[in-house]
Amino acid sequence: MKERESLLERRARLIGERAPLFYDEPVHIVRGEGVWLFDADGKRYLDCYNNVAHVGHCHPQVVDAIARQSATLNTHTRYLHEGILDYAERLTATFDKSLSSLTLTCTGSEANDIALRMARLCTGGMGIICTDNTYHGNTATVDELSTLFNEGKPRSPHVRAIPFPETYRPLRDLEGEALADVYADEVRKAIDSFRQAGIRLAGMLFCPIFANEGLPTVPPGFLKKAVNLVHEAGGLFIADEVQAGFGRTGTMWGHQISGIVPDIVTLGKPMGNGYPVAGLVTRVDLLARFRQEIEYFNTFGGNPVACAAASAVLDVMEKEQLMDNARTVGDYIRVGLGKLARRHARIGDIRGQGLWVGVELVRDRQSREPAPEETKQIMNRMKDRGVIMGRIGRYDNVLKMRPPMPFSRDNADLLLGTLDEVFGSP
Ligand SMILES: Cc1ncc(COP(=O)(O)O)c(C=O)c1O
Repeated sequence: MKERESLLERRARLIGERAPLFYDEPVHIVRGEGVWLFDADGKRYLDCYNNVAHVGHCHPQVVDAIARQSATLNTHTRYLHEGILDYAERLTATFDKSLSSLTLTCTGSEANDIALRMARLCTGGMGIICTDNTYHGNTATVDELSTLFNEGKPRSPHVRAIPFPETYRPLRDLEGEALADVYADEVRKAIDSFRQAGIRLAGMLFCPIFANEGLPTVPPGFLKKAVNLVHEAGGLFIADEVQAGFGRTGTMWGHQISGIVPDIVTLGKPMGNGYPVAGLVTRVDLLARFRQEIEYFNTFGGNPVACAAASAVLDVMEKEQLMDNARTVGDYIRVGLGKLARRHARIGDIRGQGLWVGVELVRDRQSREPAPEETKQIMNRMKDRGVIMGRIGRYDNVLKMRPPMPFSRDNADLLLGTLDEVFGSP
């Protein structure tokens, strides 16, 4: 307790009062292993939140790959090295054939920053479409799209934010294709509004599963319709797979669920299991045009250690069949949550794919009044009982779960059992 207070005081003094922290009583995590985190008192937490530790915290094969490459060589990408090429071949083979080139960065923000520059350069336009409850990173350019922190509004006249597609609180009282058309019409309106302002369209940047928006169930066919509209208007589609990607949805990439082929895909978070590696995959012609105009270089991006870590992540994913695991255990969790919903009226909606799980909490199922305070309380109580999760959504009332990929059925039973207790307690 004393130690935590001292850490809080030092933190406020050294890295700022407002540096974000989770929980009313923040946790002091000192060790991780697989799906588990341990605090300074030795208390064990089931990690249902940290997708960066994709193949499990401190996975020995990734740790070993990083250690071995660190002990051999770690420079930048202006020397010849097999590491980045072997990784690029292997990674791009998981995409549509047209997406065959890789550029590596250190963060997802940088990847999106380059994607925006590339789209603007290659189309000659400036206009970008995003959603009204999103986050794609922290560079000055990408922050123009951070509607999540700006009451739904973009921070630039060159950005239009459309309502994110959802079926639980739909824009109009419709379903299926008809609802998809309503949301697609919002894309059309954004394109028209750029035209009226004399701004040429550069593209549209979406997370294909709308993770930061609150993991909505997207009306079927919406993405295809939206991407077609953007292409017809001369823009490019950038799929931000920084959170969504690397098999968590039960498909390798979130956009593959909708059968669309993006022009640029950005990657990050789980890519190096915690080692900072991110990047973008795109068409050869777009990369060539970008490189023609811009002398892009990134000191740490794609260095041999980054590539060793990223390759080891793919090795472990294959060896431990983690994509299949995401599919089966994710479905198991959602079925379990469905059973809990019969007993606990706060559960308004259950959604997600693979090991992406969202549970929207409401005060009343009929009116769907959001329950943000209760959601915060549940998150804190789960932590007290040793289960870590987050919350998102327009109203901060969606429990967000995206555990390390080796999450087992036993882990799921513990998660569901603890949720049952916490929902049941006053
Ligand atoms: C969808 C999405 N894109 C991009 C980013 C930015 O990634 P990074 O924090 O590595 O810069 C985030 C970070 O939360 C994200 O959620």
